[in-house]
This record gives sequence, C-alpha cells and structure tokens, in this order.
Amino acid sequence: MPIQWFPGHMHATRKAIAERLPDIDVVIELLDARLPGSSSNPLLAEMTAGKPALKVLNKQDLADAERTAAWLAHFQARADTRALGLDASQAAPARTLIAACRQLAPLRGGMVKPLRVLICGIPNVGKSTLINSLAGQRRANTGDEPGITKTEQRITLADDFYLFDTPGMLWPRITVERAGLHLAAGGSVGRNAYDEQEVATALLSSVRGPYADRLQARYKLGALDGFSDDELLAEIGRKRGALMGGGRIDLQKAAEIALNDFRSGAWGRITLETPEQFAQWLAEGEAK
Ligand code: G4P
Repeated sequence: MPIQWFPGHMHATRKAIAERLPDIDVVIELLDARLPGSSSNPLLAEMTAGKPALKVLNKQDLADAERTAAWLAHFQARADTRALGLDASQAAPARTLIAACRQLAPLRGGMVKPLRVLICGIPNVGKSTLINSLAGQRRANTGDEPGITKTEQRITLADDFYLFDTPGMLWPRITVERAGLHLAAGGSVGRNAYDEQEVATALLSSVRGPYADRLQARYKLGALDGFSDDELLAEIGRKRGALMGGGRIDLQKAAEIALNDFRSGAWGRITLETPEQFAQWLAEGEAK
C-alpha cells in the first residue's frame, strides 16, 4: 500500500517558507545521505526555483561513500547548485557550510549585504542536531520580527552570515512508492503511517542486490538467491530466534530487527538508491 504521511503543521511551514523566501540568498536542503532522492522535497524545489541551492547529504557516516560521491556529482551538475556530505561528528560544520554558501552567492557578504541562508529538511534528516551544533551560544530567536512565526530561529554564523531555521518541519512529499518505503525505512515517516513488515521487505529488496554480503555476514546466511524478499525476512527472523508458539517465525519481530539494524548502521554503510534508479522511479511514477 503506498505510504502517505503529512505532519499536521505542513501548511504553516509552507506559508512561513514562502514569506521568508524573498529575503533569502541561498537555500540549504538537508537530505538523508542514505536516501538522497527520497528525502528531497519536490515542493521545496518548486518553491525555491531560481534560488542558489546547497544540498547537504547528512548522516554520511551511515551512507555508502561511493554512492554519496555519485549523488554529489548528480546534484552539482545543476546550475546554481552545490552539494556536500556531512555528519554529526564533523568538528566544524559551520566553516564548511559558510564556504559553500559564499561560493553560491559571491555578491553577498559584508555588513551592508549580509548573506541570508534558509535551512530546510524533512523529519529525521538531522536538522535539529546540526542546528544545535551550529548554534552553540549564538542562537537567536527572531519571534518579534513582523511576519515571522514565533518558532523561526536566526543564527548568526558570522557577522555577515545569517542562517534561518525553517519554522516547523518540511514534510516528505511522497510521489514515488519506493521513496515512501525508503523514507519509512530511514525513520522519516510517522510510525503509524506504515506497516513494518512491508517496509522491511522493501528494504531487503533494495539492499540484497548491492549489499548481499552484509546481510550474509550479519545473519550468518548462505547464498540469498533461493529466497524471495518475504522468505529472506523470515530467514532473518529464524536466525535471530524471533519465534512464536509452535516454532512459527514472528515476522513482526523480524521486521523490527531488520529496520533497527539498518537504522543503527549495523549492516555497515548503505545507500538505498542511486541517482539513475531514482530518475527511473520518478519517470515510472509520472507515466502512471
Ligand atoms: P531532525 O531534527 O531532522 O528531525 O533530526 P534530529 O536532529 O532529531 O536527528 C534524528 C536522528 O538522527 C537522531 O537520532 C540523531 O542523533 C541522528 N543523527 C543526526 N545527525 C546524524 C549524523 O550525521 N549521523 C548519524 N549517524 N546520526 C545522526 P535518534 O536516535 O533519533 O536520537 P538520539 O540517539 O540522538 O537521541
């Protein structure tokens, strides 16, 4: 069943972004490096068309380095777009972000024309973690400026560099069925909006081709060829002792094990999609 999920405050978020945009020089979109296509928001792309964009592939410590490089090249092929990988362990993320934004808006800067940057991202891409590490003591509430919702934050990263944090959350706009499944696997979709067994089965189907060896090593499996995706999930449950009365395999438990292992990085560094695959899913979705 296709996944649809919208956090309640999406309309307010959209309005707040639209109000702030005219003053913005660069838009940073934070993406999950494990699912860069699925975690991007098509509506944001529409709203910010023509603005210089910085795509930040966050959680790169959990992603496949080769695929991250392919995604960075893919994004940078667009005019006015730069892309970089980041993770929470990076000691000085501010320096990296400031340098990339300055390249995108070289005519801004200095006290008269400070560079104004908006940061956006769907849930769970690590926005709060990054903002907290950037903000340190410098966090400033701008709730008393007219037209700005109470929750907007302005962080002064340098005297001539302001970072605006989107009030509320950008929501994942799920136009591709597999993107919905990847978003759920990555933890960006509310728990009540999906079936864990369905998501775990889809996750295994995306992972078993490029990363079969990881699954084999983690669950002490032989060749995977003989298993359908459902059977593979059951086999993981069997190997992990997820059993119910009568020795039946507890598929719900197996799904939770697979999802937790993926999310925590226990399978190693994995990226669920390549730019080429994602372009194909988009084209198939549009053709329907
Ligand atoms: P959000 O504001 O975009 O919704 O995301 P948030 O910062 O809350 O981060 C979501 C989860 O991702 C958190 O884990 C956070 O620790 C983790 N995270 C953020 N950045 C990175 C990163 O670069 N690498 C890795 N590996 N993880 C990252 P959590 O389990 O939900 O919470 P907690 O364990 O931090 O308490």
